[in-house]
Amino acid sequence: MAQIPQDTINHVRDTANIVDIVSEVVELKKRGGNYFGLCPFHNEKTPSFSVAPAKQIYHCFGCGAGGNAITFLMEYERIPFPEAVQTIGQRYGIQVDFTQDDKSRDIYSKLYELHEVTTQLYQDNLFSPRGEKALAYLKSRGFSEDIIKQFKLGLAIDTWNQLSKHTNAENISTDIILKTGLFSRTDKGTFDRFRSRIMVPIFNRSGKVIAFGGRIFEDDDPAKYKNSPETPLYKKSGIFYGAHATRDSIRKDGSAIIVEGYFDFLQLYQAGITNVVAVSGTALTENHARNLKKLSNKAILFYDADNAGGKAAIKSGFVLLKSGIESTVVSPPQGKDPDDWVLEAGKETVQKAIKNGQPFLDFHFSFYKAEKLKGVDRSDYVKELLQEITNITDGIIQDDLLRTVGDRLHIRDKDLEKYMRQAQRRPSHFRDEPPTREKRIFSFSSVDQRAQLELIRLLASDDPNHRQLVKTHISSDDFIEPILKKLATKLMGKAMIIDHSALAESFSDKDERDIVTEILIQEEIHGTPEQIVKDCLNILKSKPIKEKIQALRLLIREKEASDGNVEDEIKKVIELQNTLNELSN
Ligand code: UTP
Ligand code: MN
Repeated sequence: MAQIPQDTINHVRDTANIVDIVSEVVELKKRGGNYFGLCPFHNEKTPSFSVAPAKQIYHCFGCGAGGNAITFLMEYERIPFPEAVQTIGQRYGIQVDFTQDDKSRDIYSKLYELHEVTTQLYQDNLFSPRGEKALAYLKSRGFSEDIIKQFKLGLAIDTWNQLSKHTNAENISTDIILKTGLFSRTDKGTFDRFRSRIMVPIFNRSGKVIAFGGRIFEDDDPAKYKNSPETPLYKKSGIFYGAHATRDSIRKDGSAIIVEGYFDFLQLYQAGITNVVAVSGTALTENHARNLKKLSNKAILFYDADNAGGKAAIKSGFVLLKSGIESTVVSPPQGKDPDDWVLEAGKETVQKAIKNGQPFLDFHFSFYKAEKLKGVDRSDYVKELLQEITNITDGIIQDDLLRTVGDRLHIRDKDLEKYMRQAQRRPSHFRDEPPTREKRIFSFSSVDQRAQLELIRLLASDDPNHRQLVKTHISSDDFIEPILKKLATKLMGKAMIIDHSALAESFSDKDERDIVTEILIQEEIHGTPEQIVKDCLNILKSKPIKEKIQALRLLIREKEASDGNVEDEIKKVIELQNTLNELSN
């Protein structure tokens, strides 16, 4: 798949320091030889995410996620392997090139290329005679040609196959065609997904087009927008529209304005308010919050002034708080969205409103008219609010919020504490449970699974004598559990030094990699190596024999019931018993 030469990948892996890479997004504290922090892959209050610099791997004791620096970036940023290698390469000043082999060219480059060609075609359409109406529509909404060009807005004309013909789609494999999300393919041919819509390209961090949103502009199609589906390039959760153009501005300003729509974004940007991003279509997720956290820890929620907008702002505000981002809320005048408002009232007015946003909790109080609530309504309101606050992991933010709630709603500390205790007991729909994984090593609980694990630990040990000891007595065939057999085979082939990081990375299946990392990060060996090898060997070799004996006993019982001859079977059982006895001596 990846067309980065293996040498380059190795060089990047050897140069990268996992502590640097992880530290960018997780606050790590040193404890012993390892570092610990709050796991970025699930929600937790006490750190169970560990990074082992000596082995250059990480493992979360909470949710089981594990891997090396490259796979960390892949999973955290949700990017493919080659992109993770490139990103790390850039960081350490290593040139990472893709080999130019046309036949085996990466599917990702093909997908990027198709999106690029498509963007160009749509742009050309918009500025051609056929695009007159669409362009007029955009201009009537106040957009200049500059902004239209900068954000590469375009037009999908009203045909079934303009794009399909233009990209020669009929000759592209179905696998790729379907992965673009730009076409449908039936036995009648390949057809364009988008027709008769103004096209808004969605960009990734480096400004490459990875998807489209398509807005109607003439008819009353009930679906205002039709968007690209999720594709290998486009994982909706976590993508902010426009961030590629506004990251620096957000960093500089120290805060990000979050709006709901593409057009809200474009209008603010055009007006010169550039520290802005749009969630566009999906709810704001933890992934969004994580991505934002890299740029700033303050946000301004600038949603539509209707009830839905208010509710969305409140939901988003809590998601942000859980990631340690504080927000204020700004609402346009009733019935308007940020787009209309900035067009009408101008930059200064809106900017002033943005500066004077309501602190998130104040907005919460006023949205629900909290200070006027009485009786059961008040008690329900407080309980629900505190339920949200219990989910906030940062103790300082949590305390501040509690103090504000107490002060503003006149709740005594004693009662607050009581409420909080109750809230902690109730499961909330907002709490993210660590993903349940059957595939953790504690699920390897049978005697023979434990034995295989012990042997693997010796095989992965830093002491070559331990490894040699196992190799002389045991072969990879003795391992039964498929993943452990696979790992044992790899470990037995290793020379003097074990590269834990490369080993973890060599398991491309995430579940497998998680287990392998969990094994590799642990050090302790229970007992002397000689004894372990002897005991484990005994267990592993005796297991199939015991099973055979068991089967023979069943057979004997059956045969006896029908007066059959069981002499042979009994002889075999005795032989097997002898072998077993020899094993344990
Ligand atoms: P809006 O309805 O506010 O759209 O939805 P808008 O972009 O501001 O468009 P105008 O101002 O009416 O022209 C906000 C966002 O929600 C997503 C789009 O990303 C939109 O920008 N959305 C909305 C959809 O994905 N599908 C829809 O049918 C509607
Ligand atoms: Mn709008």
